[in-house]
Amino acid sequence: MMDFSEKNKTIKKQNLYRKHRIIDDSIINFCSNDYLSLKNHPQVIEAFKKGLNQFGAGSGSSHLVSGHSKAHQKLQEALANYTNQENAILFSTGYMANIGVFSALKEELNWVLQDKLNHASLLDANQLIALKIQRYLHNNIVSLENKIKKQDGNGMVVTDNIFSMEGDKANINAIYNIVKNKDAIFMQDDAHGFGLFEPDIPNNSIYMATLGKSAGLMGAFVAGNYDFIEFLIQKSRPYIYTTAISPAVCIAALKSLELIIQGEQKIKLFENIYFFNELSKELEIPINHSKSAIQPLIVKSNEKALSITDKLLKSGFYVNAIRPPTVAKNSSRLRITLNANHTKAEIEKLLITLKNAL
Ligand SMILES: Cc1ncc(COP(=O)(O)O)c(C=O)c1O
Repeated sequence: MMDFSEKNKTIKKQNLYRKHRIIDDSIINFCSNDYLSLKNHPQVIEAFKKGLNQFGAGSGSSHLVSGHSKAHQKLQEALANYTNQENAILFSTGYMANIGVFSALKEELNWVLQDKLNHASLLDANQLIALKIQRYLHNNIVSLENKIKKQDGNGMVVTDNIFSMEGDKANINAIYNIVKNKDAIFMQDDAHGFGLFEPDIPNNSIYMATLGKSAGLMGAFVAGNYDFIEFLIQKSRPYIYTTAISPAVCIAALKSLELIIQGEQKIKLFENIYFFNELSKELEIPINHSKSAIQPLIVKSNEKALSITDKLLKSGFYVNAIRPPTVAKNSSRLRITLNANHTKAEIEKLLITLKNAL
């Protein structure tokens, strides 16, 4: 019999033990992905309630049995429209959407190339279809070019758009040009850019984004050309064999999308990003500044990252410590994320506390 207690002890000794933290309302959260503060937006909550009254709490089934309601259909159409794509389908989570795309393409692909810092779900998806994991250097077009030359048969290149632990952006156009020359498929995961930046989707490529981050809800979608999305409906096991998300979530997501397009929360978020970047430079805090909502402070050691998280918590701020295997060994970090509803005073106090904690 395996001794899981011993295994857990080993993880604890390495300062890699993960646990839930239930954060009470008095703590200011600086590590949520609710970038546009739509999770608690009164109009989103109101739409959710309306959805519950109209459609009930759950979908009752998978999309292809009887779980696909008018609410799901309307949201898919709105997302296809927003991303300027012919078609879109909903998945229950972004993790499943990524696995869903790979699973549908299992018989079609001979190779996949991924950015070294792509999200875990893309690596898991790659493994699931039993193809060798091949990664090019992070955001490095030359490395991609060198690797793509060596591939034979049909393939796909996949990149995060905004990288989840760095906050930096992939060079979509440069990557796409290389992929196009090879006549391969291009896929991007825009989990952290959706809602913040205009979708940048090359012709005939695959676009995935989640509704659990900027949209403040849960679920995800894949958008692309009509035939590819129809193909996913036929072949994607994580789409076919799971319960559709609640229709009320779809009604709330339609409202989130309306607020994203209207843009007020986005303006507030970008003002906060600017303020954070300027002040942290002034205070000489060694943040790896980015143009997105994700602002990492790399401290290397697991222990140090955990101790800063604890110190911040005592001052009323929550910034989770990110450790391996989520990031590479010796690159543990505080991954600070900014939201639209953070106040300048909160950001200032966070940075001063952080400076003192370093
Ligand atoms: C880049 C990226 N892709 C996909 C996902 C998974 O999305 P979801 O949380 O909707 O499963 C995440 C979430 O952390 C992510 O950061």
